Formats: sequence, structure tokens, C-alpha cells
Amino acid sequence: MSRASIQPILEAIPAARQQDARHYGVHPYFTRRPANVVRAYIERYSVEGDVVLDPFGGTGVTAIEAMLLGRHAIHNDLNPFANFIARNIADTTLPSTAPLHEAFLRVECACAQPLKEIEQDAAAAKRWLKRVPLPKNITLPSTSDADRFYDMFTPRQLSGLGILKQAIDSEAHGVVHDLLLLAWSASLAKLNKTFLSAKGRAPSRGGSSIFSIYRYKLASECVELPIWQTFAGRVRNVLAAKEEILKARRYWQTRSTGARTIDSQRDMVVLAHDAASLDQVIDEGSVDYVFTDPPYGAFICYLDLSILWNHWLGFPIAEETLRCETIVGGEAGHTEEHYKTSLASSIRTCFRLLRPDRWCSIVFQHWDLSYFATILETASECGAELRAAITQTGDVIWSMHKKKNSASVLAGEMIITFYKPARARKPEDTLRCVPKGDAAPILSDIFDICLKNGKNTFTSEALFNSLVIEMWRRRALSCLTLDRREFMVLLNQRGWCYNTRTHLWSRREHSKETSGHPALF
Ligand SMILES: C[S@@+](CC[C@H](N)C(=O)[O-])C[C@H]1O[C@@H](n2cnc3c(N)ncnc32)[C@H](O)[C@@H]1O
Repeated sequence: MSRASIQPILEAIPAARQQDARHYGVHPYFTRRPANVVRAYIERYSVEGDVVLDPFGGTGVTAIEAMLLGRHAIHNDLNPFANFIARNIADTTLPSTAPLHEAFLRVECACAQPLKEIEQDAAAAKRWLKRVPLPKNITLPSTSDADRFYDMFTPRQLSGLGILKQAIDSEAHGVVHDLLLLAWSASLAKLNKTFLSAKGRAPSRGGSSIFSIYRYKLASECVELPIWQTFAGRVRNVLAAKEEILKARRYWQTRSTGARTIDSQRDMVVLAHDAASLDQVIDEGSVDYVFTDPPYGAFICYLDLSILWNHWLGFPIAEETLRCETIVGGEAGHTEEHYKTSLASSIRTCFRLLRPDRWCSIVFQHWDLSYFATILETASECGAELRAAITQTGDVIWSMHKKKNSASVLAGEMIITFYKPARARKPEDTLRCVPKGDAAPILSDIFDICLKNGKNTFTSEALFNSLVIEMWRRRALSCLTLDRREFMVLLNQRGWCYNTRTHLWSRREHSKETSGHPALF
């Protein structure tokens, strides 16, 4: 039966991060899509046994959800650190968690004494620095507060992490070793000078600036968490996460008609390619659904920020890998042109890999309309039809960013869903542009159309996204610009005002309190 008749998801799905499975919480990463949203998309657009691909997979939410839903998952990310997390969270090959627990006790036995020594005596920490294997003291990205790798740690943190890693590496290589290393790697996120305790909570609660402001900013007051307890806590998390995945593996047996068990080795492939060149390793027309969340311009420089992990975990990053990253800026100095070209090539590749009569969803957000134009025009060039563009707001992570740093952080995203028809059709004439001089009245007209949707209140993101789609329909997206100031002026002129408490726009006569400037992207 044709999949053309699948009813696209046309409503936002509230993110339920609190209910996200424990396994996603074992290690921080820069961005992670709420699992319940990803799951709903996979369930709607694919069926059991299908191949689901995420070319910009991050820590593997798409692939893991796909695998747990009985699909064959292909996870790809350029960043070995992301793949390391994804692969280890997904692994279902242990018979039980007992071997991991036993290995943990061996590591405790090997480390208890030296860690006690360095916790109690600063001179001992310095002495241990000469005895444990440490990575080279390389230069950090130029945006870091610290110049060199070792400057990121106190002597106690550096020697303590070194002692733990040495004990873990003396375990036989395999899944158990890698899971201990996952817990060590999650400890590394807390045991460095960028770690900041959350106000009013236990000192261990908090996070690193690397994952919140996407920079190696040293905390003004360094919190030195106890090394062993921090590691032991991360191991407990990994143990709980593994219990959960192993249970899901068995649960599937009772649910699936085929009485099969989930097996990560068979059901999930992890690749480390440039998304644009995946056609070198995946057959054309062999993928049934793509769900992906590519980087948003200059927002996060993944490889630069992952250096702490990639370097210490021993994952080399080739020059070529840095050259391929789909970002603006970073140490490689990627231009906007590079970003758009790379994004467009990866989208072309996705549609080549996708079977005809299948669906593809891309998560995106940015203030720059030309990035949206790149996505929509490339998909259209590939013969894909735009079927849904849904604004996802209200995720706690974005809301937090919005409160803290309203002027510069994205506050929600659009999930754009395309259908690749069974028979290739002629690409639409998407590049036709309105003459330059006509831009202002056209923009004004598009605002009026989008505001006449009968809604009394809306978020900035919902309006912005509907403007993008309306501009796209009129073939005007690639030739219009809209900055945040203009956005506010056009709304104010039309009698709308912004409530800084609810983050909603409403008609001036309806808005009772706290009007002000909107927290845009
Ligand atoms: C927005 S994140 C994906 C987050 C993911 N959806 C999750 O929930 O964890 C984008 C990912 O794209 C990766 N990336 C950047 N450029 C790439 C490229 N050219 N090919 C493959 N992956 C790339 C980054 O390393 C990063 O992990």
C-alpha cells in the first residue's frame, strides 16, 4: 500500500523530557531531542522492519528509539564522541548487568587507595601526575578561557581521572570496559574547571559551561567534587540505564508478532561519515524514513567543543573530518557558504538514499531565512513535497535558555516533513524571486496573512515559522531578510504586544501586564 496517504503529524507534540528513559541521561551532550517526540515521528512515518536513518545522529536518540520500535537503525555522526555515547547506550549484548558490576568492584579495589591519598593531600595529587598516563597537553580552541588541555583541571582532578582511566583500561577490552569508560567520560564532564554547581542544590548538581553556553568558560569559583563518589554515581546511572535497555529488549519479545529480541549488533549500525557522503556506504533507495536534526549554523561547534573527550578517549580527528563539519565558524573558520553547501549536499544524499514513496523529517531553527531556503529548496529540487512544518516549543531546555539568554538563543524548532513521491516529479521552480525593490510590501503582506489565522495569542517562534512557510509558498524565501528588530516593529505596528512572563504575543487590548520585548532566537 502506498505511504502517500499517511496523515502527517500536524500538531506539536509536548516534549516529555521528565519521562525520557534513564539511558538518555547517562551522559551529557550539546543537544538531544526529546525521545517521545522522535518516537511519535518514527511510529507515524515508518513500520516495523523498516530502515530508519539519522545522518546527524548526535547521541543516538533517533537510532535507539527506532531500534526499540523494531526498526533497523542507521546512526551516523562525524563526531566520534557522539558515536561513543550512542553505541554504548544502545548496546544490548550483555547477558545482564552483573559483569559490569563486578568490573566496577575491581576498579574500586585498584583506585580506592590512590584516590583517597590525592583527596587528602594536594602534594600527593601532584606526585601522581607524574605516575599516571595522561593525554598530551594540547592547545584548546581559541574561544576557551584556558589555553592548554591541562589548564582545564586542578591537579587533583587531572590525576584522579588519570588513575581511574588507567584502572578501567586494565580491564579486558569489550562492552564492559566501554561502559565503565562511558561512566568515566560522564565524570569528566563534572570533574573539570568549567563545572558550575546549580544554585540552592547539592554541589554535585549542576553542569559544565561546555553544554550550557557552548564554550570552555572556567567557573569563577571552581567546585572540586569528590572523584570516587562522582565516578561511582555515574556507574550507578550506567547500571540503571543498562537494566532499562535489557528489559526493553526482553519486553519486545512479548510484543512483537515475530517474537524477536532486540539486538543492537544486528539492529543498529553506527557510522562516522560526513552526512553528505553517506551514499558511499549506504545503498541508494534503501532507507524507509529519515529523521534528523542537523547543526543550526554557528550555534554549536561540535568538534571543537568535544576536544576534551575526543582527545582523552583517544579518538583522533582528521583534518578532513574538521573540514566536513556542517557548521559556521569554529577553529576551521567555516563560512556561511560552506555551511549551506554542506547542508544542501547532505539533504540531497538523504533523498537519494530514501526509497520512493517514503517520508523524511528535518528539525531546524534559525533566525537566518536563507538557511530555511537551503533546506526547502534542496528538498524541492530532489522532487520531495513539503507536507508539514510544525513548531515545537515549550521544551524545558529551550525555555531555560530563553529565560537566561533571551537575545541569542533559539527557543524552539520547526519539524519539517517531506514526502518523496513514488514517481519522481519535476522539481518546482523554487528559485523564482520577487524583485528586490518589492521586498518591504511583500513582507508586510505576508505578516498580515499569517496574523489572520484567528489566533488571539501566539509565540514568536510559531509566527516566525509560519512566515517562513508563507514566504516559501510565494517563492520569496531566498530573497527576503527579516531581522528580529523588524519582526517586533511589524508586530507592534499592527497592535500586537509581547508578554515577557508568558512569552506570548497578544492584541494590545487583551494584554493586561508585563509587555516588553520578545525573547527571540
Ligand atoms: C543537533 S546535533 C544532533 C543531536 C541529536 N538529534 C540528538 O538528539 O542527540 C547535530 C550533530 O551533527 C553532527 N555533525 C555536524 N556536521 C556533520 C556532518 N557533516 N556529518 C555528520 N554529522 C555531522 C554533530 O557532531 C552533532 O552531533
